[in-house]
Amino acid sequence: MERKTHILVIPYPVQGHINPMLQFSKRLATKGARVTLVATSTIRNSMQALQGASSVNINIISDGSEGEETVESLIATVDRFKDVVSQSLAEYIEKLNSSEYPPKFIVYDCALPWALDVARKYGIDGAPFYTQSCAVNVVYYHFKKGTVRLPVEEPTVSLPSMPKLAINDLSSLLSNPSSYPPLLNLFLDQFSNFLEAKWIFFSSFKELELEVVNWMASQKWPIKTIGPTIPSMYLDKRLEDDKEYGLHLFKPDVDACIKWLDTKETNSVIYTSFGSLASLGEEQMQELTWGLKNSNCYFLWVVRETEQKKLPTNFLQETAEKGLVVSWCSQLEVLAHKAIGCFMTHCGWNSTLEALSLGVPMVAMPQWTDQPTNAKFIADVWKVGVRIKLDERGIATKEEIEFCIREVIEDERGKEMRMNSVKWKELAKEAMDEGGSSDKNIEEFVAELARL
Ligand code: UDX
Repeated sequence: MERKTHILVIPYPVQGHINPMLQFSKRLATKGARVTLVATSTIRNSMQALQGASSVNINIISDGSEGEETVESLIATVDRFKDVVSQSLAEYIEKLNSSEYPPKFIVYDCALPWALDVARKYGIDGAPFYTQSCAVNVVYYHFKKGTVRLPVEEPTVSLPSMPKLAINDLSSLLSNPSSYPPLLNLFLDQFSNFLEAKWIFFSSFKELELEVVNWMASQKWPIKTIGPTIPSMYLDKRLEDDKEYGLHLFKPDVDACIKWLDTKETNSVIYTSFGSLASLGEEQMQELTWGLKNSNCYFLWVVRETEQKKLPTNFLQETAEKGLVVSWCSQLEVLAHKAIGCFMTHCGWNSTLEALSLGVPMVAMPQWTDQPTNAKFIADVWKVGVRIKLDERGIATKEEIEFCIREVIEDERGKEMRMNSVKWKELAKEAMDEGGSSDKNIEEFVAELARL
């Protein structure tokens, strides 16, 4: 029997990176590869739910930590992560090399560019997987290359294939370079050796970022867009068992959300979530609670457990008729529910892709890293949402929040946004369907790899 090509896939251990890399792994497996997702020990407990549950094998190697971490602790341990994982990854590949299934290739999270050196030292090749949008990555690339320098002194930045970007459209790590220097280095370092790789994977689809994708191709970057990386059931429906990501680093309250949504009318609920990492200041949280309340719409709000202490006293009791607050949900199931009228989002790349793929218009309230650039594209390029304007203190006021919600839910402009969202939903599905741009890219990669 012909032996399957064995591919290793190694994500950075946060929800927004694991989800797309796991989905890519599932697609590789359906194209005939043997795939092992190499998770690191920080997320050992959550990974157990996945073991044996999907077409992808799971293996855990040490990253020097046991137990879920906060964003602060992850940032503080970027160097330790590299030291420990380059060692444990080397040991793992060495062990596999003398096993029944020696690996042929590794797809590594773009935050781990050193994984390529580790892999090559042990005789296998590799390629980076970019978990953020093509546009955001091209902006980082220009800063790494020095086309634009830090600190940015002009009010706008003009880059090929991109709309003009104001300072507040840039990643917060670029507009405020002293905010998280280790993270800024991490994002710029993604481009230290990327052109040595034979392929470069992007969690996006060609039609969505056509100009940027064409620009990258014109630079002879060997790019392959392979998204949107969301479960097949929400797109082409060709992978029968692929109904959910299958991994939550937080415990979701699925039944409560769906039961509550089932009682609401079509397009009547605002779904609000700021992803797995962002943390709102107390003042911002107060304004948001008022904005939601004053909009007089129904709302489903994900407030992670560590954030719940910032909710005003009595808020939950006072708004019980209008709102449901949960500590985590199955976001895809929620976004796919007919009751959802708009998504007030921090514009993390996965949330953005999910809303586009499910045809849900957005109120963009970006917090940090890549999110401001995603918000710019949501509002001005794809025209599927409005972006909240901040006041002079950098706060989204309750009036502005209420205004933006009403615009999306009630206005004529909101209707147009919904129509645009439906157009992207169709294109997203086509990209992943048989013969679509992303499907072809995945197929070609597996076929070429098998021939090497
Ligand atoms: C991080 C960064 O913040 C983001 O900007 C970057 O683009 C990717 O990595 P995160 O902030 O968690 O991710 O946001 P996002 O990219 O949107 O990923 C969150 C994921 O968690 C999504 O796939 C979403 O479906 C899921 N989620 C979120 C849930 O399943 N339930 C929830 O209640 C909230």
